[in-house]
Amino acid sequence: MEPFHHHHHHRHTIFLVLLVFLVPPPLTLCINQEGLYLQRVKLSFDDPDNVLSNWNPGDELPCKWYGITCDSATSSVKSLDLSSSNISGPFPSILCRLKNLTFVSLYDNFINSTLSDEDIATCQSLEHLDLAQNYLTGALPGTLADLPNLKYLDLAGNNFSGEIPVSFGKFQKLEVLSLVENLLGGMIPSNLGNISTLKQLNLSYNTFSPGQIPPELGNLTNLEVLWLTETNLVGEIPESLGRLRRLTDLDLALNALTGRIPSSLTDLTSVVQIELYNNSLTGELPKCGVVKHDGLEAARCVNERFEWADPDRAVLFQNKLTGKLPPNLGKNSPLRWIDVSTNGFSGEIPENLCSKGVLEEVLMIENSFSGKIPAALAECQSLLRVRFGHNRLSGEVPKRLAFLGNLLEFSGNDNEFSGSLPVSIVKLGQLVKLDLHDNKLSGEIPSGIHSWTKLNELNLANNDFSGNIPNEIGEVAVAQLSRFIWK
Ligand SMILES: *[C@@H]1O[C@H](CO)[C@@H](O)[C@H](O)[C@H]1NC(C)=O
Ligand SMILES: *[C@@H]1O[C@H](CO)[C@@H](O)[C@H](O)[C@H]1NC(C)=O
Ligand SMILES: *[C@@H]1O[C@H](CO)[C@@H](O)[C@H](O)[C@H]1NC(C)=O
Ligand SMILES: *[C@@H]1O[C@H](CO)[C@@H](O)[C@H](O)[C@H]1NC(C)=O
Ligand SMILES: *[C@@H]1O[C@H](CO)[C@@H](O)[C@H](O)[C@H]1NC(C)=O
Ligand SMILES: *[C@@H]1O[C@H](CO)[C@@H](O)[C@H](O)[C@H]1NC(C)=O
Ligand SMILES: *[C@@H]1O[C@H](CO)[C@@H](O)[C@H](O)[C@H]1NC(C)=O
Ligand SMILES: *[C@@H]1O[C@H](CO)[C@@H](O)[C@H](O)[C@H]1NC(C)=O
Repeated sequence: MEPFHHHHHHRHTIFLVLLVFLVPPPLTLCINQEGLYLQRVKLSFDDPDNVLSNWNPGDELPCKWYGITCDSATSSVKSLDLSSSNISGPFPSILCRLKNLTFVSLYDNFINSTLSDEDIATCQSLEHLDLAQNYLTGALPGTLADLPNLKYLDLAGNNFSGEIPVSFGKFQKLEVLSLVENLLGGMIPSNLGNISTLKQLNLSYNTFSPGQIPPELGNLTNLEVLWLTETNLVGEIPESLGRLRRLTDLDLALNALTGRIPSSLTDLTSVVQIELYNNSLTGELPKCGVVKHDGLEAARCVNERFEWADPDRAVLFQNKLTGKLPPNLGKNSPLRWIDVSTNGFSGEIPENLCSKGVLEEVLMIENSFSGKIPAALAECQSLLRVRFGHNRLSGEVPKRLAFLGNLLEFSGNDNEFSGSLPVSIVKLGQLVKLDLHDNKLSGEIPSGIHSWTKLNELNLANNDFSGNIPNEIGEVAVAQLSRFIWK
């Protein structure tokens, strides 16, 4: 009888288990099809911070789930934003089954698959795709260009490799394309010049083969940003870029561009920032261009270039540029920062750099500038940093300079400055660095140097100073100077 007893008991348990399985919790039946797809997305992710914890399959609709937005009328999912959520796993291509999904951002996660042609081609409604800062690898899917409504594509900061697909010239509505910081090869394809809707083209920091800037990019007349820093560019800057009248940012720095800056760049009437540093550009800055404005035709010279272009930064350092700087540089534009260091510029320092009173940095080392420091510059109260080292500047260090209360650094070493140091120079209470070595300064070092409480580096070597080192300089030196060179 023992075995019977046992069997009976067992049957009872089996019955209970069946009950649990056959009668599902009532809400499970209610999740809609889009919610079911999203559950599969959730399953494909590794989610260590449980950001998807409220993606509850018992809900009727997915519309209140973290990162999901639905159309208010139809309750169909229109956007998924899981940016910066520490999610890892492959790109969830099942997302493309959500027929009304227009916006996807998985920005800044650990998405670590490839992106296949087949997967992405099915995301037909997409307008905005941001997969920047992930771990995607492999080739760029050429079928991205077939998405008829795509306006925004940001794939920056991944490990995509191979060439930019030829098909990318066929985007119908694309306004923003960023492929910055990938491992892309080949050359920048000329047919990107066919994406006439494009406003931002950001391709910087890729491992392209040496190639020229395609002149066809000059056809992108809606372009506002052209960002090609460190993309292995060689050859000359094409004249055609002057057609980009809406361009605000032109960044071609850290390449191997040669030849002159084309005069057509003076036609870039909207430009705010031009970065050309660290190339091998030669020749003088462009002289005159003819600009047509609302039927008006006017000759514009480079002298005015920075005026009507209104940049706040003029950055041209590390090239081989020669000739003079435009004398009106800064006259009508709020110039904040000029860096023309390490070129072959000559002539005088423009008078009006600080006309708008916002100039902070004047970096002009290693050129052949001559003449005096302009009086107006010595009265520029906004100045923080002045570097004139290794030029042929002469005359006295202006007395007014001693009243620039914000000045942190004044370097004028290896020039031909003469006369004595202004007595009041000791009033520069913020000064951290004063470097005037290798000049022809004479007279005595002013006393009162102890008021330079922040001074860290003082170099006055190889001048013709007379008299003794002021006693107090010894104290200052011991207390704070990391570098003190006297004679
Ligand atoms: C997508 O939106 C349309 C209306 O714009 C609607 O008719 C359709 O049912 C929605 N699709 C899904 C899968 O919800
Ligand atoms: C992602 O991980 C980092 C580091 O562990 C953490 O600081 C951050 O809060 C996490 N983000 C989320 C959304 O949980
Ligand atoms: C991607 O990340 C997931 C989850 O962390 C991991 O299991 C998988 O091995 C990774 N795949 C690749 C190709 O690195
Ligand atoms: C991406 O490429 C860099 C440079 O080649 C490499 O160090 C890194 O491991 C790669 N990461 C992934 C996720 O493939
Ligand atoms: C792109 O433009 C070029 C001219 O620059 C033209 O020859 C080519 O057919 C165009 N390609 C596409 C795909 O439209
Ligand atoms: C493209 O570059 C510009 C200039 O650096 C920047 O302002 C913009 O945000 C970038 N666009 C994208 C999508 O990263
Ligand atoms: C684009 O630019 C190139 C070179 O600048 C030119 O030859 C071509 O005709 C232009 N194409 C269109 C469609 O404007
Ligand atoms: C400029 O480029 C050269 C090599 O092309 C490099 O050695 C140098 O460090 C770069 N300068 C700056 C300021 O990046």
